Amino acid sequence: MSKVEALGQNAERDRVYWGLEGVYVNETCICYIDTESGKIYYRGYDLEDLVRHASFEEVAYLLLYGKLPNRRELEEFSNKLREKRYIDSDVIELVRKLPLDAYPIDVLRLCIDYYCTKMRFVNTLSVKDNYELAIDLIAKSPVVLAYLYRISRGLDVVLPRPELDHSANFYYMLTGRTPDEVEHEAMNTIFIIYADHSLANSTFTAITVGSTLSDLGSAIIAALCSLKGPLHGGANREVVNMLLEIGDEGRVEDYVLEKIKRKEKIMGFGHRVYKGQARDPRVKILKNIAKKLALRKGGDSLKIYRIAERLEEVVEKYLGSKGVGPNVDLYAGVVLYQLGIPPDYNPAVFAISRVVGWVAHVLEYWNHNKLIRPLEKYRGPLGLKYVPLEERE
Ligand code: ACO
Repeated sequence: MSKVEALGQNAERDRVYWGLEGVYVNETCICYIDTESGKIYYRGYDLEDLVRHASFEEVAYLLLYGKLPNRRELEEFSNKLREKRYIDSDVIELVRKLPLDAYPIDVLRLCIDYYCTKMRFVNTLSVKDNYELAIDLIAKSPVVLAYLYRISRGLDVVLPRPELDHSANFYYMLTGRTPDEVEHEAMNTIFIIYADHSLANSTFTAITVGSTLSDLGSAIIAALCSLKGPLHGGANREVVNMLLEIGDEGRVEDYVLEKIKRKEKIMGFGHRVYKGQARDPRVKILKNIAKKLALRKGGDSLKIYRIAERLEEVVEKYLGSKGVGPNVDLYAGVVLYQLGIPPDYNPAVFAISRVVGWVAHVLEYWNHNKLIRPLEKYRGPLGLKYVPLEERE
């Protein structure tokens, strides 16, 4: 037996928490997920209430500063976001130089990286400067995405409109049309719902990078890389492609059974923290919006909604007892499709919302910073003898 196998005798000491499942690594006052009752709280406020009553601006302020803004604070914050909507011409030039089919979340990452590199952000920024940078990134990221959308389709870019709020302005700059009431509600809800979700992989990535005392921009760029993956923020793209591939609610059951037979994951289902009775509470909120849009728009909007609804039923029937239920990305994907946003943009839309949560978490973590540096259990051999190259087989 090698030395390392001998170490493996002590089961408790040698336990490995794969994927850090069930491990607390931090204390926070930003977001609480009550998996028993199926509720999410931002800074103590029920997410359902926030979606019902608040604008994205109010929620972003709440997450960043820890309290709901009063009228003056909200006005100041919203004005700052509006003023910072303009991006430098060299960033627009950068977008123009990229391949027309570049993946939007990559373009967003590149532009944020370019901007931060140009501004020479380092770890010495003051708290105030970090908040300024945060507001800058929250305001500018949707603009980058809207420019990319227009430029890559050969359309004229649409300039921001100062009288529109954050979510309406994004929709307007993307489509060239002011959203109607339901579209506006849908966009605002997407932004609020995606703004935070405690220590998701991308947020953990952000605080991991932040914990080295690297700068805020670097933490956000790293978080974007994490979010892109289909097991995390990339799932909302896969969901829409899957629903389009299924194409008809009558084909849903066969699709699910085939996936189960092949032991493949069904996108938009399953979640690391929702494995008990209570389902992801964001699903109900987004489903209501998707239904409203479906009934209002009809056609493909209604069709995709019906496929998603049927999929939810069938997956619950076959996998529900295992704790596999719908997650946020199922109906977020549907809503984004109904808003006319192409699936490739979905992870990037997630990112421009979640940037709020990433910033809030990194700034909070810095209040009690400790370098994140876990351990890994070595299971390989020891004491091997070096064999010169010419003697190796
Ligand atoms: N489809 C089918 N079966 C699933 C699914 C799914 N989407 N999700 C989990 N399961 C099954 C697993 O096969 C496993 O079954 P087993 O015990 O028989 O092997 C069991 O449920 C537990 O699943 P794990 O993969 O171990 O759960 P984990 O917590 O590691 O993974 C994850 C969570 C990655 C989200 C997973 O559910 C998944 O891949 N879902 C699809 C991708 C997705 O929608 N991601 C978005 C998540 S939400 C977000 O990040 C914004």
